[in-house]
Amino acid sequence: MYDGDIASTLVTEQAIREKTAELAQEVGRDYAECCSGLGRDSDLLLVGVLKGAVMFMTDLARALPLPVQLEFMAVSSYGSSTSSSGVVRILKDLDRDIANRHVLIVEDIIDSGLTLSWLLKNLESRGPASLEVCTLLRKPDAVKVEVPVKYVGFDIPNEFVVGYGLDYAERYRDLPYIGTLDPSVYA
Ligand code: XMP
Ligand code: MG
Repeated sequence: MYDGDIASTLVTEQAIREKTAELAQEVGRDYAECCSGLGRDSDLLLVGVLKGAVMFMTDLARALPLPVQLEFMAVSSYGSSTSSSGVVRILKDLDRDIANRHVLIVEDIIDSGLTLSWLLKNLESRGPASLEVCTLLRKPDAVKVEVPVKYVGFDIPNEFVVGYGLDYAERYRDLPYIGTLDPSVYA
């Protein structure tokens, strides 16, 4: 699949699976008291950011030891296809109110942090009981704005990556691992 397009594997399928299980245990412990066995209005709400977070969100949800409900948002940040500007537009909003709910934003990757910073402010204004972030990947060297992220899978170098939900021009989301692209793809 995608022969010659992927220059290197950065995070293997197995590493993703193991890390997801670890994060799920951690989240499960942290939310056991507030969100387990108390009924549907107490269930933890996972908010996934489309489309990149879909693979991680569905794997994380299935690894979590407590009941969760799934919500999705789609946002677009104005800017080029490979860097964001921090000016964000909601393409698809949540289907319901998150007031008084425990909310965990699930992200594929934090790059500059600009998108997430905007999203945190936006969701905070809706009055959730709590609001935290879980991201599979983070690029520490790319950060422009510090955002409080409670759960991080992997810190990676400041390179453009694809796979496991992440795309280049809508391709490669279906790769089961995270890799870097061969320069010939951009050419
Ligand atoms: P910021 O810079 O606002 O960007 O933190 C977050 C969003 O930008 C996308 N992004 C990437 N997508 N490979 C991708 O396929 C990458 O290396 C990459 N870096 C940033 C992604 O949508 C993320 O949510
Ligand atoms: Mg994204």
